[in-house]
Amino acid sequence: MAQDGIEVFAICATDAIERGGARGFSLSRIDEAGETRPFPLVVLRTFANDYLGYVNRCPHDGVWLNIGAGEFFSPDRAFLKCGRHGAIFEIESGACLDGPCKGKGLEPVALAVIDGDVCLCGVRLLEDSGMPDPFADAEETMDIMIHPD
Ligand code: FES
Repeated sequence: MAQDGIEVFAICATDAIERGGARGFSLSRIDEAGETRPFPLVVLRTFANDYLGYVNRCPHDGVWLNIGAGEFFSPDRAFLKCGRHGAIFEIESGACLDGPCKGKGLEPVALAVIDGDVCLCGVRLLEDSGMPDPFADAEETMDIMIHPD
């Protein structure tokens, strides 16, 4: 789908994420050299109803933030938190405020809400190549990444 000349991909319906919640997606992107790269993504919906996206990769050791218990947030839900060594990130900026990667930050991903969908902007996702569609793949991945409470 193209919006004003920028390639956009629908990731999920806006109401698929609760306010104050987050969802992880395991996607693949095509880089400038045409190579396929894993593209783990976390989409956050703030209590103010904004949608924010980050590459789901801790700047310390490169793991998914929700590694382990499947949780993206600190217990008070005020911050993002890495499940491996407990780095704390500001939700609005992705800046690491405490932990082994203090001073670094999560890589932001541009999102837009279009027609009730959260869409990724300006990233070439792998699709139309016999691979499962990113949405179906994300659903499957969620079962692995997110443990039920
Ligand atoms: S891997 Fe995230 S804090 Fe160490």
